[in-house]
Amino acid sequence: MKWPSHGSNPQYLFEAMGLPLPKRYIDFSANINPLGPPESLTKQWNEFIHKINVYPDPYSTRLKENIAEKENLLSTQVLIGNGGAEIITLIARMLTGKRVLIIQPTFSEYEKACKANGCEVRYLQVNHQQDWMVDLELLKEELRTADAMFLCNPNNPTGVVYSKSQIIDILKLCDKNDCQLILDEAFYDFLVDYKSITSLIKQYSNLIILRSMTKMFSIPGLRLGYVMATESVVEQITTYQSHWSVNTIAMLAGEACLEDEAFIINTQNYIQRERKRLFSFFEKENFIVSPSQVNFYLLRDAKTEDSFQLFTFLLQKGIIPRHTFNFPGLEGSWLRFAIKSTEENDQLMEVLQEWRIHLD
Ligand SMILES: Cc1ncc(COP(=O)(O)O)c(C=O)c1O
Repeated sequence: MKWPSHGSNPQYLFEAMGLPLPKRYIDFSANINPLGPPESLTKQWNEFIHKINVYPDPYSTRLKENIAEKENLLSTQVLIGNGGAEIITLIARMLTGKRVLIIQPTFSEYEKACKANGCEVRYLQVNHQQDWMVDLELLKEELRTADAMFLCNPNNPTGVVYSKSQIIDILKLCDKNDCQLILDEAFYDFLVDYKSITSLIKQYSNLIILRSMTKMFSIPGLRLGYVMATESVVEQITTYQSHWSVNTIAMLAGEACLEDEAFIINTQNYIQRERKRLFSFFEKENFIVSPSQVNFYLLRDAKTEDSFQLFTFLLQKGIIPRHTFNFPGLEGSWLRFAIKSTEENDQLMEVLQEWRIHLD
């Protein structure tokens, strides 16, 4: 079976399963803010149309400066991309032919982009028994022969977070081994107590931080992300980017979103509340979940080893989880769910209760 490589666009999943796409469904497979784009953005939307008759600023200067100021960096240490996905592609280009270590299970684009650039890709696997966290002793060994390492924090698909001090330990190990650390913080802004590590770029020239704006601000259709690193790394990555890669509307949307601190805090509180509610239901009903601190989580039924039956059951009920067949180490044994609206989360819990009755 050829599984879709990402969530969203559920027609491809149903096609792969040989099932008709139901008229009504709830898509839990994309990790996007359920509150939708902020009002500060939608209110300005009609203005944006007047800007599309000229070419975008190829340097995204204003947005770049806004981010640099917020992160206490020089604007030359920031590059805006057409989604975090484009930034991954550019970084992989920079890593052409190098030895790359990926902590798995994680976002599949690192491997895909690195392999497309002739990198030698190796995995270090983490699992449920280790609370999904990397073992530093094993990492030390692996880093001896790695030129670069990808770490996703918070991690997709587990939602597990390494603390700032754990990241510093990993960064030091990488530094000792002359290895670049590409830290993907696509979901950092869903964390209630996030402690920024951006200032470490000054001290560690091997640190590259990647971010997405499509998740928090619910604009995956617009595409917007950025990377922060030393000037020389940013300069190098920039040479691979095509001119006008980031469109004007995405840039303007980014500027509007960046200002909206209240929206971020509101989202964090909302997600935290819903996650607590869902997780206490899962515990009561004997489902195992990953200890996520963000807007998605892995789940499996403690009563069955095989998640495929549950997956099929849910799809037939119009509940669409993200399959995990293309996450090394998971291979379909878990399902990933985004945290959605209260009503949608209620429906998920109702259907899981039906599953319990169906099993017994
Ligand atoms: C961990 C991670 N990084 C980066 C991306 C890319 O995000 P985007 O290209 O939408 O900004 C994704 C998308 O799902 C992701 O999960």
